[in-house]
Amino acid sequence: MSTASGSMNQDHPPACDGTMPADWTRAIVEPAAFAEEQRRLAHVWTFLGMTTDLRKDGDWFRSSIATRSVFVQRFGAELRGFENLCAHRFYPLRNAERGNGPVICGFHHWQYDREGRAVGVPQSRELYDAVPHELGARLTPIELSTCGQMVFGRFKSLGISQSLEDFLDVGFPVLAAGSQARNPQYLAIPVEANWRLGAHISLDDYHSPAVHPRTFGKDGYLRRRDIGYHRFGLHSAFINSKNVDALEHLAEACRNGTYRPRRYSILQFVPNLLMAFFRTDFDFFHCSVMLYEPVSHDRTILRAWFYPAPFPPRPTWVRAVSDLVRAPLVRHYIKTVMREDALVCERIQKGAGQISRPPLLGRLEERIGWFEESYRELMKAGERSANQE
Ligand code: FES
Ligand SMILES: [Fe+2]
Repeated sequence: MSTASGSMNQDHPPACDGTMPADWTRAIVEPAAFAEEQRRLAHVWTFLGMTTDLRKDGDWFRSSIATRSVFVQRFGAELRGFENLCAHRFYPLRNAERGNGPVICGFHHWQYDREGRAVGVPQSRELYDAVPHELGARLTPIELSTCGQMVFGRFKSLGISQSLEDFLDVGFPVLAAGSQARNPQYLAIPVEANWRLGAHISLDDYHSPAVHPRTFGKDGYLRRRDIGYHRFGLHSAFINSKNVDALEHLAEACRNGTYRPRRYSILQFVPNLLMAFFRTDFDFFHCSVMLYEPVSHDRTILRAWFYPAPFPPRPTWVRAVSDLVRAPLVRHYIKTVMREDALVCERIQKGAGQISRPPLLGRLEERIGWFEESYRELMKAGERSANQE
C-alpha cells in the first residue's frame, strides 16, 4: 500500500484513515454543527489549567469547557469550579484570565459561597421580600478532578461517571509526574481555525521539513519504522523508540519516580490536550502542555505551558542556572513552532468549505485517523447522554 503517492488509487485509501466520513468537516465549516459538537463534548474531562495558578486561598483562573466559560477557585484546601455566569442576570463573574478574591459579581454585587450559593444580595428584603438563601439562587457547578498539578473539569451528565484516572488511562501517571512544574511559562495565541485542525497538526509527524525547516531542519523526515505509535484508551502517543512497550515503560517509570527523559515523547489526549517531553540541548529536556481551546467553528485559542522537565524533581545547580538562559530561548522556539502550525491550520480553514472527502493519511499521520475514531466515539456518547436528560 502506498502512503504518499500522487497516483494513489482513490478506491483503495490507506488502511490507517480511521474510516473518516466524507463530511468530516461539517463541524469545522458550519456554526450549527460546531455548536452541536460542543454540546456533546461538555461531558468530557477537559484540561482547564494548572494548580500553580491556585496556590493561595481565593486564587482563581478562568477557562472553558466546550466553549462554555468556567472558572476554578481555591477555597482553603479545596478547589471548586463553576460556570462563569451570575445566577442573577448572567453577567460573567470572572472577566480576566486569573486573579484572587471572593466571588462577587461586578454587575449588582451578588456574592457567592464555595457551594455556589448566593449569600450576599444587596437590598435583598426590599427587592425580593427574602433573605439571600431563600432565593435559592446558585451557580452551575462543574465536576473537577486533578492529575498532578493539572486541573480537569466537565459538566455533569446523566449516565457518565468515568473517573479522570480511568479516562486518562496509562497517561495518568505520565501527566501526574510530568506536570510537577515550579513556575511554568505561559503563552496563548489566537488561531483563526477550528480546534480539530490544530489537534490534527499536532498528530502529524510528516509536515516538519515543509513547515518547520528553520526549527527542525529541511531534511528531517522521520522514518516510520524507527518510531513507535501507541494507542491507549481514546488517546495516543508517539515515542521516538521502536520498543513496542515504550509507553508502558514510560508510565511505569513515572509511577515509581525513576523516569528520566532520553527521547522525544508526546502524549495526545482527546479532546484537545497534549504533553510533550523534548530535548533542548545536551541531555536537558523541557516539558510542554498544550491545549486547543475551541472558541467558534473557525477560531481557537492555542494555550501552552512549558517548563524544565521535572525529572529529577530537584534540579542540579547547573540545570537551575542554565535554565535561566534556556527559558527565553525555549519560549521563542515554542512560539515560532506554534505560529508556523497555526498558519497552516488557518489556510486549511479558509478552504474547508471545498473539502468533500477524507484526507489521504499516510503512516506518519496514522494517529489523525485514531483521533477521528475517538472523536466519533465521544460524539456518540454525548448524543446518548443528551437523550437521557
Ligand atoms: S448579574 Fe450578577 S449581580 Fe446582577
Ligand atoms: Fe508542526
